[in-house]
Amino acid sequence: MTQPTYVVIGNPIAHSKSPQIHALFAAQFPGHPAVTDFFYDRLLAPLDGFAAAVHDFAVAGGRGANVTVPFKEDAYRFAAELTTRAQAAGAVNTLKRLSSGNWLGDNTDGAGLVADVLRHVEIKDRRILLLGAGGAARGVILPLLAQQPASLSLANRTLSKAEGLLNQFSTMSTIPLLAHEFSHLNSDYDLIINATSASLGGERLPITNSVFAPNALAYDMMYGKVETPFLAQAREAGVTLRVDGLGMLVGQAAEAFELWTSLRPDVEPVLQWMREQL
Ligand code: ATR
Repeated sequence: MTQPTYVVIGNPIAHSKSPQIHALFAAQFPGHPAVTDFFYDRLLAPLDGFAAAVHDFAVAGGRGANVTVPFKEDAYRFAAELTTRAQAAGAVNTLKRLSSGNWLGDNTDGAGLVADVLRHVEIKDRRILLLGAGGAARGVILPLLAQQPASLSLANRTLSKAEGLLNQFSTMSTIPLLAHEFSHLNSDYDLIINATSASLGGERLPITNSVFAPNALAYDMMYGKVETPFLAQAREAGVTLRVDGLGMLVGQAAEAFELWTSLRPDVEPVLQWMREQL
């Protein structure tokens, strides 16, 4: 059997769609030297064995890895070098083996989100409301700020976590950063992004319909076969532009693929294919 040169590492990992996505990307460049030995597979690592798994993978000729739950913080600690966006995210979702033998840690989640949002609306000079203050929110703040929005508001069930998170970014940007409680939100937002894990548990957020201006974009980082609870809330509030996180998934993969191969894949046909598979 051919040894994989690229993997997605997680636990569990059987459900991961990354192998299909990357195979479709590689197929866009038939015969290109950068993809002739591009073999991408899943790698299940023991919960306490992330570093050992990456080490074994490197010894076997591994060149790059995507990292998923629950190892993104392990990968952050493991990488010998980090990109600025991985440092800001405090987590690594992409590893690349450098010619020195060291692993570079990157985080492409935020860039994937930004690229997907930009397929629908502008971000520059728009007012962003980001919901949630966990790892998913942290991972996208710097790439969102890089688009120069008018402001970035962060709302979280636990206000102190939103304030603490924004503090980490206050010196990196001149863009107004505001922390709010869910109960104190008005409808002054052009872009409302759900980065909480509430949709995962099938739960709605404790926000009222008045948060959603009808011409706002409602974006849920989650996706699924059926409409997410957050996007159902947005629909009921009259929002027409509602997008789930499938494009972010494909977008973050495209960024990783480019980091490894220097080739920029077309996400559109892959996203379409993924949508059909849901
Ligand atoms: P992730 O890495 O997915 O961001 P996390 O770090 O555990 O996961 O963060 C989960 C986020 O979702 C938090 O912002 C959490 O709010 P708290 O900080 O108040 O815990 C938010 N969250 C999860 N379930 C929620 C719910 N039912 N309603 C509102 N917020 C919720």
